Amino acid sequence: MMSEKHEIQYLIERIHKQYKDQDDGEVASYIPELSKANPDHLGISILSTTGQYFEYGNTDTLFTIQSISKPLTYGMVLEIYGAEEVKKKIDVEPSGEAYNSIELEPKTNRPFNPMVNAGAIAASGMLFKKYGKDAIDFIIEKYSLAAGRPLSIDKEVYLSESTTGNRNRAIAYLLLHFDMIDGHVEEILEIYFAQCSILVNCHDLACIAATLANIGENPITKKEVFDIEAVKNIMSVMYICGMYDYTGNWVNQVGIPAKSGVAGGLLGVVNRQMGIATYSPKLDERGNSCRGISVYRELSQELGLHTFDCMNSGSSLLTSMLRG
Ligand code: DON
Repeated sequence: MMSEKHEIQYLIERIHKQYKDQDDGEVASYIPELSKANPDHLGISILSTTGQYFEYGNTDTLFTIQSISKPLTYGMVLEIYGAEEVKKKIDVEPSGEAYNSIELEPKTNRPFNPMVNAGAIAASGMLFKKYGKDAIDFIIEKYSLAAGRPLSIDKEVYLSESTTGNRNRAIAYLLLHFDMIDGHVEEILEIYFAQCSILVNCHDLACIAATLANIGENPITKKEVFDIEAVKNIMSVMYICGMYDYTGNWVNQVGIPAKSGVAGGLLGVVNRQMGIATYSPKLDERGNSCRGISVYRELSQELGLHTFDCMNSGSSLLTSMLRG
């Protein structure tokens, strides 16, 4: 007997059709290798915390994780040093500025948060302090645990960013000046560039997101990836800073913790329920995926995913849909 198509599968296929031809935005080119992406791609993957996948479109296409690495590496430093120690080097306040803004908090000289480049580079600095150059191996291991398969680096994208990333060098030297990193500027930047160049697809990102939604346990492999405290901190900071200077509108219209990357990935976490991932490389001027934003708006509306939506967590609709 043929099994019936799930309501959520119908929904994502309908949403894919609705937005696959949306044509605004540009593929990122400031890292030259990224400009090779196919602008027409759109993938949507959802993984419930009960282990059910719903996917459609270009969900196998590999792309670099870019800034979606930031919450994961932040989680690693939280686990190593504890929130109080991390807070001495990286705050948790929205900056309201672009991701690559060359700016630190007035008075404390800390990066505003771990989602902007300054905060992410400071986090790489903390990992370097603990592991030295091996930090990248620990990063790959952790992300792989969250994705449920061994991940690797795209060497071309890594070299492309390392060769051209002088704005990030400026940020790193500012951090050095204010003692937010302890020397080793080039080594720390290489860790940051390498983590941004880890290859994932939509399927992987949905698993990473669902691991966060499942309070740190990968719902497919059942392996413990992040501890509960780290997940709480990661989710909070993604909620208020994950979409950069678009975060206010994002929270208003979509209302779930999320993180974008300039290769076109967009990861969203519906607490305790599901991980969501979209991939579409055309970006708006803030570096967020244009089709990705539209897909999330629609999903949030249709499934009642907004944190403050009366249909969300604990209510009947989504729970009954996921039970199928
Ligand atoms: O620092 C950079 O420029 C990139 N490697 C990551 C930036 C990024 O993905 C910003 N996200 N929208």
